[in-house]
This record gives sequence, C-alpha cells and structure tokens, in this order.
Amino acid sequence: MKLTYRIFYCFIVLFISNLTKAQSGLVADKAMVVSAREEASKIGVAIIKKGGNAFDAMVATELALAVAYPFAGNIGGGGFMVYRKANGETGSLDYREKAPLSATKNMFLDKNGIIIPDKSTDSPLAIGVPGTIAGVFAVHEKMGSLPMSEIMKPVIELAEKGVIVTKKQEKSLNEYRESIIKANGKNTKFATVFKENDTIKYPALAETLKRIAQNGKEEFYTGETANTLIGYFKKIGAIITKEDLAQYEAKWRKTIEFGYKDLKIISMAPPSSGGICLAQIMKMIAPFDLATMGHNSPDAIQVIVEAERRAYADRSFFLGDPDFTKIPLKELIDDQYLRDRMSNFDFNKATLSSTVKAGTISINESKETTHYSIVDSFGNAVSATTTINAGYGSKYYCEELGFFLNNEMDDFSAKPGEPNMFGLIGNEANSIAPQKRMLSSMTPTIVEKNGKLFMVVGSPGGSTIITSVLQTILNVYEFRLGMQEAVNAPRFHHQWLPDLITFEPKAFDTKTLETLKSKSYLINEKTTPIIGKVDAVLVLPNGKLEGGADYRGDDKAVGF
Ligand code: DON
Repeated sequence: MKLTYRIFYCFIVLFISNLTKAQSGLVADKAMVVSAREEASKIGVAIIKKGGNAFDAMVATELALAVAYPFAGNIGGGGFMVYRKANGETGSLDYREKAPLSATKNMFLDKNGIIIPDKSTDSPLAIGVPGTIAGVFAVHEKMGSLPMSEIMKPVIELAEKGVIVTKKQEKSLNEYRESIIKANGKNTKFATVFKENDTIKYPALAETLKRIAQNGKEEFYTGETANTLIGYFKKIGAIITKEDLAQYEAKWRKTIEFGYKDLKIISMAPPSSGGICLAQIMKMIAPFDLATMGHNSPDAIQVIVEAERRAYADRSFFLGDPDFTKIPLKELIDDQYLRDRMSNFDFNKATLSSTVKAGTISINESKETTHYSIVDSFGNAVSATTTINAGYGSKYYCEELGFFLNNEMDDFSAKPGEPNMFGLIGNEANSIAPQKRMLSSMTPTIVEKNGKLFMVVGSPGGSTIITSVLQTILNVYEFRLGMQEAVNAPRFHHQWLPDLITFEPKAFDTKTLETLKSKSYLINEKTTPIIGKVDAVLVLPNGKLEGGADYRGDDKAVGF
C-alpha cells in the first residue's frame, strides 16, 4: 500500500473506531441521580450527600424538576414512583391525576357524539386534579428521613435564583410560545422571548413552595394555595372544585413483578399500563434468542415488534383505573396466554394489526413527560416518572402560583375506538368517570439480577415509553451494551395501531428497513424525530453505578 493510502486508511479506521467507541456514562461509587436537568440531579445528589436517602432525594428531584424543567416537571400534574429498598422490599406510589367530580363520560363529544377537536388537550376541561404534591408528601411520610423544610430549601433557592435557559429549552419555548399566549394572554410569563443562557427566575413558584414547605400537603389541597388555584380555575372555566382538591389522595399500589430469564422486573401497575405491557412483551419475546439475532437486526426487530403489537392491542381493550374497572391482570400476563398470543407469529411476514383488531389512526411523537432514576448510598432505589402530559401541559399557567396545569384528561378514552394525542385507542375500561384516573403508559421500572439491584430505568414519550424502557433493558441484558450506550442506541416502536414501525430517523441501515418492508412491515421514519428520553442507572459488576442520561434532551447524571 502506498504511504498516502496507508495514512488515509489509518484515518478512516480511527474515525470509525471513534464513532463506535463505547460511550460510558458517568460512573460513581455510591449514589447517583439521573434526570432531565443538571440542576435537579445536583439537588437530588446534594440531599443524599447530606445523609438523606433515595426517598428524600425523590422529593427534592421531583420538585426541582418542577422549577428547572417546566416543560414536564410539575406540581400541576402527577406521576408514578416505583421503589426497591436496600433490603429488597419493593412498592409503588400512584400520584396520577384524577377526573374532577363533575367530569362526564361524553364531556369531549359534541351532540352528535363526535369528538370535539382539541377539547381534551387545549381547553380548561383538559385539566385533571393534580397529584404531585400529595405524591411527594406520601413518599416523605412513609420513607423520608430528613425534614421536609431541609429537602425543599435548595429547591426554593433554585426558584429564587433562577435557572439558565439551554439551547434545547430556547427551542421548546419558541415552539410553544404561541399556544401558551393563546391560553394565558400576551402578558403571561412565557410570552417573553427567552434565549440560551438567559436566567429565568420563578418568584411566584418560590412563594408557593415556601408555603407548602411550611404548611404541608394541606397547603396545596385545602389551604391558601388551594383557594388561589380554585379562583384561577373559575376564571379560566375549569371544572375542578374545592372538593376535588380536598378529596385527592395518592395511593400505594402493589407493583407488577415478573421474571425475564435471570432478571426480575419490578414495574408500575394500573392505572399505568406500563408494567403489564412490559411484562406481556418481555414474556412473549423470552423464548427467542435475541442476542444471537443481533442488536437492531431485522429478526430481533421483528420479534419485538410482533410482541409489542399484541401487547398494545390488549392495552386498548383491558386496561384502565383498577378502582373502576376489573382488570384481568393474572390472565394478561399468564405464560400460556402469551405463548398462544405469539403462536401465529411468522418470521416470513408481518402479522397485520387488522387481524389482531381493526382501526386506522395516526401517531404523534413526544417527549414531554419526565423520568428520573435514583440510587442512594444505602442501596435504596427510586424510579419515578412525572408528567403534565403534553409539553407545558394544557398551557394554562397560573401566574399567581407560578406553575402550568396538566392536560391529562386526554389520556382517557374520550370515545371507544378513537385515538388520543398519542394515537392510543381505548374503550370502556378507560372511559371518563368522576374521580377516575386516566390510563397511563408511564413505566418507572427497577430490575434485579440474581436478587440484587441491577438497573433503575424509565422514560417519557407517551405511548413510546413502554417500548423505550423495554429496549433499554434488552440493550444492556441481551446485547451487552453499557448503560449510556444502551440509552444512546437508536430505538423503534410499534403500538398495534397505527400498523407502523416507527424508527428514529437516519439511525437504522437501509438494508434492515428493506428486509422488513419485504415482509410487509410499514415503516415510518418521518413523524417521530426521537423515541423516548431514557434516564437510567446500572449497577456494574464491581458495584459502582453507571448513569445513562439521554443525549436527546439536556439530561444529566450526577453522582459521587
Ligand atoms: O401518562 C401517560 O402515559 C402520558 N400522559 C405520558 C405523556 C408523555 O409521556 C408525554 N411526553 N412524552
């Protein structure tokens, strides 16, 4: 080889090896918080450094996200939290929003029974009764160790000091500015054009948080803050009343737990569909040797997609709030049932969703919820996903209290067989009723391997949450990627209807897509720029922790 060619060749090899070099995430000895914003991860870790546990850190991180990440972090929304204590005890908290007392089954339909466009997403009726403050107080009361005032202090300071706008935040505020103004008028806080590196201060939110720190959960549900909030609801025409707020309670729920090879997966039960769908998918794919098929190979994609298709079809029919709907939980995750469900799978061609169940709809991408994963220095783990549903929720922003209200009512099935904003179809099990919780896809999950803590994982992404969590676990366990690599790896998604595999664009090779097309799979590489935004922690074989903070956002792992 001529010298010039040899040099050129060396360059190419170097370039490619750099591209494919294993990207390790932050590695820490004792404790870690991975969340959507560095400010929130830092506050969570600082609480652990002070001697607090993962539950104290959960409260701090959740509330810090409400300040630093108003896009999805919130006190005007709700969420789910799964935990595993160092002694192996597991549990979960449901602090999901509820339908107001005066909500009705057909509240989003016109007199002809047709869905009124945008009413369940952009109107004051889209707002569900918020659960976040009840959630953090329930966690603190049961498992916290530091005083609430100490936990909330750095959060309040952050709101007062302000948060620096990132490039991505500048973009998102630009994208949503018009709709925020439409809901709140041109004098609203977010009518201002904020640029990268600007500082946004949140004095109204700081005052709200101070009152909550002083007076407890009652401040939000029956106190001065509740009164102001009710006044605001009346002004905008929302139907949430004093009674709605006073009656809200977070609920401890039994986790969904199941085995996958030598892993034990611990995830969220209904009213989230996350745990059940994850269990169904993982049990359906378990008989296949994905590792030999190869990461993101056509065969592996096919197996995963076919399991997803079948699980999401079941989600549509069977799942809703367990306090209102009888869910055949055992049957849905029964091994024989799931073997039968996959028995018509054929490697030669796609199973059409129309043969699983009919329907035609379209899907929208999103990443507006937020997930954080925590491991403390005692070995406790917390996995929590929290949301106001769409980006900046309903866009209704209570200036006086300093926060956005959710539009979670859209997660109900407004009409059987009609899609919501995520293209998800539901039926009677997820119909609207007073005080009912809307079905969720949030999948905060903890994984054990050989009885020990292995991974803490979760994601935003509406309907794509479940498949993002699934692929992250498989990337580590089956395909031997590190935590950060597993988070970075390109993702794909199928949700039964529409009958499409959605791929992150330009991330999969043409040959893979062509092979799938030749088997009658419909490919969508356009409408979903990203799928999920995973934040996770992996316990490495030497006991250290590796963070996986999703580059798709401003997410950050912090640890020590
Ligand atoms: O609970 C749910 O499934 C949805 N409200 C989550 C929304 C979401 O993830 C939006 N952004 N990605």
